Parts: sequence; structure tokens; C-alpha cells
Amino acid sequence: MYGVVRRLLFLLPPERIHTLAFAALRAVTTVTPVRRLLHRVLGPADPVLASILFGVRFPGPLGLAAGFDKDGRGLHTWGALGFGYAEVGTVTARPQTGNPAPRLFRLPDDRALLNRMGFNNDGAGALAVRLAHRRPDVPIGVNIGKTKTTPAADAVDDYRASARLVGPLASYLVVNVSSPNTPGLRDLQAVKALRPILSAVLEEASRTSTPVLVKIAPDISDADIDDIAGLAVELGLAGIVATNTTVSRDGLATSGVKELGTGGISGPPVAQRAAEVLRRLYGRVGDRLTLISVGGIETADDAWERITAGASLLQGYTGFIYGGGLWPKHIHDGIARRLRDGGFASLPEAVGSASPKPGRPPD
Ligand SMILES: Cc1cc2nc3c(=O)[nH]c(=O)nc-3n(C[C@H](O)[C@H](O)[C@H](O)COP(=O)(O)O)c2cc1C
Repeated sequence: MYGVVRRLLFLLPPERIHTLAFAALRAVTTVTPVRRLLHRVLGPADPVLASILFGVRFPGPLGLAAGFDKDGRGLHTWGALGFGYAEVGTVTARPQTGNPAPRLFRLPDDRALLNRMGFNNDGAGALAVRLAHRRPDVPIGVNIGKTKTTPAADAVDDYRASARLVGPLASYLVVNVSSPNTPGLRDLQAVKALRPILSAVLEEASRTSTPVLVKIAPDISDADIDDIAGLAVELGLAGIVATNTTVSRDGLATSGVKELGTGGISGPPVAQRAAEVLRRLYGRVGDRLTLISVGGIETADDAWERITAGASLLQGYTGFIYGGGLWPKHIHDGIARRLRDGGFASLPEAVGSASPKPGRPPD
């Protein structure tokens, strides 16, 4: 059924349809009885799916990944669509328009997307106002990035300003140093640059005990992953979100991708590396940090593989675009079935159950 709808939707330019479909979803879920009904039908009701992580209760492990709802316009929408939580943003300290359009492309033969949005957003202040006026029915994390015009030397203050504005209103904060679409941003993943940024955000977040995580790219080296994992444990971060989109163009089935220009690719082409990064992180940090796996999750099997490899939470963006409105419920139902079939009393019991005992990096 969604296959037919998707074919129609895909006749329109991707960013246009994103705006229209998102507006429709928001409109439908604004009506309280409809929202409640959808939540009851689509939401992760099975208690086996729930977990409490860094002090926050998540009714189900699958969340909406950052970038879909950059400005928190759909805070009331995501629980009704069956997500266990949502990560809004990326927001930056100052509003910015992002890169010129076209900046979002479909790679249909790969069930993937290419984007170079460039953090188009209304700014952290505007998001803070929205968060203050809504009481969403699922946890809402906020992803913060650096304003494009802020020089790298002032990045710490830029992240700090965003953390101060949205930190008190977020279920958790994610420091995004991994988008390929802000020049120089990914250089901030080097521990020397990352340490002062994370320390500043942690300092702000500590005023309201808001958990802080960091989001990393799939394209960094294993040595850099180990360094970031070590830093995250040392500083007392709540977790790591892995991964963002990839700049790699290897192994794509869609033709003409080179002509589309720069940007990050999401969906199945990033799945293998996202899973590798997760395994490496779990080998380093085990249960000391919460690992959120994102990148190319399409099926309940993919989701289960990430959970048993060490992910306590999952996120998806491209899988939702290609899978449609029932996708979150489908994934949650599949995870619940696998938990029960495997004799797990709750989701946390299954986390990392297929991984070697953590504590040292995998060879
Ligand atoms: C159009 C688009 C915009 C995105 N914007 C952001 C963003 O603002 N911040 C961020 O951290 N990740 C952003 N992402 C990356 C996603 O959150 C996610 O990490 C990535 O797409 C891999 O997951 P997926 O394969 O399920 O899509 C964006 C992805 C897409 C497709």
C-alpha cells in the first residue's frame, strides 16, 4: 500500500515532499483524540520494549533521527507515529538558511538519500520556545551543531550558547561534530578540539542534570573511534550516537550520483560501517555508556542485530522515508517478538548479547 503512495510522493522533489508530508503529519496529530488514538495503535505498548537510560524512560528503542524535525515543529507528532522518542535539530546558536537548493536527493536503487542541507534551522532560541510550550508524550533529545559563520576557534562558545538555551528543556543533548555539510565541522572530532566543546556543554547541562551524548561520523578511523570512546568515558558523557551520514560513494547502485555533488549519504550504503562502529564502541565501553545506533536500519532484523551488538537505542531517518508511517510500529513489533522468542525478560537484557565481552578493543 505504502509502495503506491511512495511512488506518487516520489514524483515531487524530495525537499518539497518532506515539507508537505511533515505539515500533513503535524496537522493530523494536532487533533488530540486522533493523536491519542494513533499513539495507542502505533506506539510501543509492549512493556518488554521499555528501558530507563541515563535517567530517562524510553517506551521503545526506535527514535526518529536528527535532521527530520530540525526545529521541533512536530514535538507532538513522533509519539503518535509510534516512535519511542525523537531527536530534534540540528539547531545552531544562531539561525541560518543552510545550503542553496537543490540539497536533498533520492538514490532509489540504493533506497538511500544524499543531502547537503547544511543545518538550515531557526536557531536554538526558537527551538527553546517550542520546547517550553509543548509537553510531548515521548522523550525529546536535542542535537546541537556549530553555526556556519562561527570560526572553529569560537566553536566552544557556539555549542555552549546552544546548550544553555535548549539543555534545560531537552531529555538529552547530542553534540553533533559529524555532519559533512558544515565546512570543518568533522575536524572537531579530533580529541584535542572535542574535549573543550564537550566540557563546556557538560558544564551547561550539569545545571539541569541533562545527559550529554556525542554524535560521530562513519568515516573516521578506528583509532579516532577509540579515542572518542575513551574521552566520552573520561568526561562522563551519557553515550555516543553512531553514526551520521557518509561521504563515501563506494558500492552505490544508483547511477549519476557524482553529478549530484557533495553531501552525506544515508540508508543502506552506510549500514555496514554504522554496525562496525557500534561493535567497536561496544568493545571499548561496554555498559559504561549508552550506545545509540543509527545508519541504514531498515528491517526488524537490522534493528535486532544492532541491539544484540550493543545498542540500547536505535534511530532511523531514511528507513522511515522508504518504509512509511507504519515503519516504527513494524520495527518495534519485530523487536518485541525477537525478545520473547529469545527468552529475554526485557530489552536491556538483550543489549550486547551477541557481542564478545566488552572491555578491550576488538582486533
Ligand atoms: C535529509 C537529512 C538531514 C539530516 N540532518 C541531520 C542533522 O541536522 N543532524 C544530524 O546529526 N544528522 C542529520 N542527518 C543524519 C541522520 O540523523 C542519520 O544519522 C543518518 O541519516 C543515518 O541514518 P539513516 O540511514 O537511518 O538515515 C540527516 C539525514 C538526512 C537524510
